[in-house]
Amino acid sequence: MKKARAGVLISGRGSNMMALVEAAKAPDYPAEIVCIVSNRADAAGLAFAEANGIATKVIDHKAYATRDAFDQALGDYLESQRVDLVACAGFMRIITPALIRRFEGRMLNIHPSLLPAYKGLHTHERALADRAKEHGCTVHLVTDELDDGPIVLQAKVPVRPGDTAESLAARVLVEEHRIYPDALAMVAKRIKN
Ligand code: GRF
Repeated sequence: MKKARAGVLISGRGSNMMALVEAAKAPDYPAEIVCIVSNRADAAGLAFAEANGIATKVIDHKAYATRDAFDQALGDYLESQRVDLVACAGFMRIITPALIRRFEGRMLNIHPSLLPAYKGLHTHERALADRAKEHGCTVHLVTDELDDGPIVLQAKVPVRPGDTAESLAARVLVEEHRIYPDALAMVAKRIKN
């Protein structure tokens, strides 16, 4: 089996990236994680990636005058690593259309809501404020609209009485770690066939 080469973009904790790395250790997983890129040098996930022998790269957005210049450098690095697929995993930068074009249909994102509900930030707080009965997470292809694009997989969780944003986020995160590896595998198989 020829595996798809995947790069993962992070900005912080990196727990979704870790779930992808762990899943990709299975011999029959259709993608290999070849590099982890962070826009922040202090991202906690970088140490995990290094410990797992995966190439890491910090590309600090503050070192670039424009969003376009940053995305050009990011795209150039990903192409230098010959990635077929890009997985955004808590990557807190808006991606420009020019970079999206370079990985059209091959760039994924995970969002902590049942899209199209609650695009943007503070999704758990907003679901609680609305007294939503259920909440969840979505893996989707990245398009020019923020937190939009074709849905690859979703998972629902119940909102329970007494939930706080933290308890709800923790329940959603368990599902994020389950569906992101499955979604990446689905897209990897699609592009390699
Ligand atoms: C996750 O909730 C993800 O859905 C959102 O940002 C968070 C990142 O967490 N986009 P982690 O860095 O993967 O632990």
